[in-house]
Amino acid sequence: MDEGDLRLKLAVQKSGRLTDPSLDLLTRCGLKLSRGKDQLMGYGENMPLDVLFVRDDDIPDLVQEDVCDLGLVGMNVIEEKRLELAARGHRARFEVVRTLDFGRCRLSLAVPEGTSYEGPSSLRGKRIATTYPYLLEKFLRERDVQAEIVTLSGAVEIAPRLGRADLICDLVSTGSTLQANHLREVETVLESHAVLIRTPVELPPQKDEWVQRLLMRIEGVQQVRESKYIMLHAPRAALPEIRRLLPGSESPTIIPLEGFPDKVAVHAVCRENVFWETLESLKKAGASAMLVLPVEKMLA
Ligand code: PRP
Ligand code: ZN
Repeated sequence: MDEGDLRLKLAVQKSGRLTDPSLDLLTRCGLKLSRGKDQLMGYGENMPLDVLFVRDDDIPDLVQEDVCDLGLVGMNVIEEKRLELAARGHRARFEVVRTLDFGRCRLSLAVPEGTSYEGPSSLRGKRIATTYPYLLEKFLRERDVQAEIVTLSGAVEIAPRLGRADLICDLVSTGSTLQANHLREVETVLESHAVLIRTPVELPPQKDEWVQRLLMRIEGVQQVRESKYIMLHAPRAALPEIRRLLPGSESPTIIPLEGFPDKVAVHAVCRENVFWETLESLKKAGASAMLVLPVEKMLA
């Protein structure tokens, strides 16, 4: 086995909605990447992990075919690929190992502005352009609607204007693509978010250990995003009320204050944002000298 085989290969979307949040997640997990001239591959300088930049639709295939061990991709792509593989009598050779807190979007039906829509029966006999033919076919089948699926490889949003379709079935995130193309969202086919997938193939121990470390770091990164560290002074008598007011904290540390027998310092990690309203309520309950700090890293 040469050295290259012991480096993990992770597929990431080359340019799209998931690219920046994916790279941000990896950076927060401690990865330093140096990108080659071709920009197609990123070399992990401080971890045995390399990143391949590809089209998101190709990510499940790259894991399926053992080119990559891991992938960061949307559930929408995963579900479409599962249906496609099933239709061909194959089984998916990738596993979803983490739900991620970014890439939220939905696969939706959208009609040109000014077109009426009264539920799925309005789709009967219509031509629907999409890059998600399997998810769309399932949606139509479950509603017993016969329509024509026009499978495209991209630029779905312009299909109605070109006369290639009556409406579209495409991903909507902010809605700006639909707006720019005068399309109106009328029905959700699938809700989606980003996930981490891995090969079900057993990896050599060195590689597997890095997969586990990455999973733990991702867990930590996602936990701290909303977390705050709060410090305050409080009268001992007010402790029950103050603990009740601290949002999403488990067991605060209570420290005696030298020279003030009736007062304590309270330090706590809050697993939610701490708003001004909370601080105001804490003050009313008797708290003083309050300090709220961001949490950078967390490991259980
Ligand atoms: C999706 C979709 C739209 C866009 C919608 O592209 O194809 O073009 O996002 O987002 P918006 O509602 O914020 O405008 P994606 O990044 O998944 O890339 P791809 O479809 O080209 O693979
Ligand atoms: Zn895509």
